[in-house]
Amino acid sequence: MIRKALILLSLMTNSYTISAADIALPRPETSGGLPTGRALEMRRSTREFDKERALSTEVVSSLLWACCGINRPADAHRTNPTAMNWQEIDAYYFDSTGVYLYDFAANRLIKKADGDHRRLLAGTAEFSQNFVLDAPAAILLVAEMNRTAGGERASMMAAADAGIASQNINIYCAANGLATVTRATLDADGIRKLLGLPQSALPLLNNPVGYPAQ
Ligand SMILES: Cc1cc2nc3c(=O)[nH]c(=O)nc-3n(C[C@H](O)[C@H](O)[C@H](O)COP(=O)(O)O)c2cc1C
Repeated sequence: MIRKALILLSLMTNSYTISAADIALPRPETSGGLPTGRALEMRRSTREFDKERALSTEVVSSLLWACCGINRPADAHRTNPTAMNWQEIDAYYFDSTGVYLYDFAANRLIKKADGDHRRLLAGTAEFSQNFVLDAPAAILLVAEMNRTAGGERASMMAAADAGIASQNINIYCAANGLATVTRATLDADGIRKLLGLPQSALPLLNNPVGYPAQ
């Protein structure tokens, strides 16, 4: 109840300070794309991207809304279900200009780091998938375990919750002619260090996103 009230308050008052580096997103497009059945037919992992074609802010907005935006403002529920409505999954948007936290309540990107850090999503020195660098953007899903009940069961639920948000990205991409792949490979320590995240924040999955290679 308190959580709902806080989210609603944030929706009404824009409780974050807006900095010049933040990006206000346009209203998401919620009625476009292929019908559900056709989108499910088109859903696949794609690892080859058109390096020249960036995402518009309209697409970024719709993509992030599909991933984990608010679809019921009256009670601040989201497009992605989470166990006990913990809403512990945060989405970070990576592109060549920086890393941004998706502020779902205010529909904007809050800049958390300058510069291109997609390499932290590609992997580590031990194992890296360089195709990630060909995609113009990527979404990182981080579970903040302090919002959960804690313990082993909550860790399993958080992994499930991240998978659901990732699948929302997959379906949006399939419905809208975009290429993506759910990935568990990433540099969790490097990401935590860059973004100043506590140990309770678990970088779990990422989806590079772009247009398919021609
Ligand atoms: C939880 C999860 C983690 C994955 N991690 C990676 C990954 O790190 N790198 C990668 O290239 N693909 C990854 N994949 C994609 C799978 O390899 C892919 O979904 C599978 O081969 C089936 O292919 P399809 O998605 O085209 O049906 C992952 C998929 C899931 C669901």
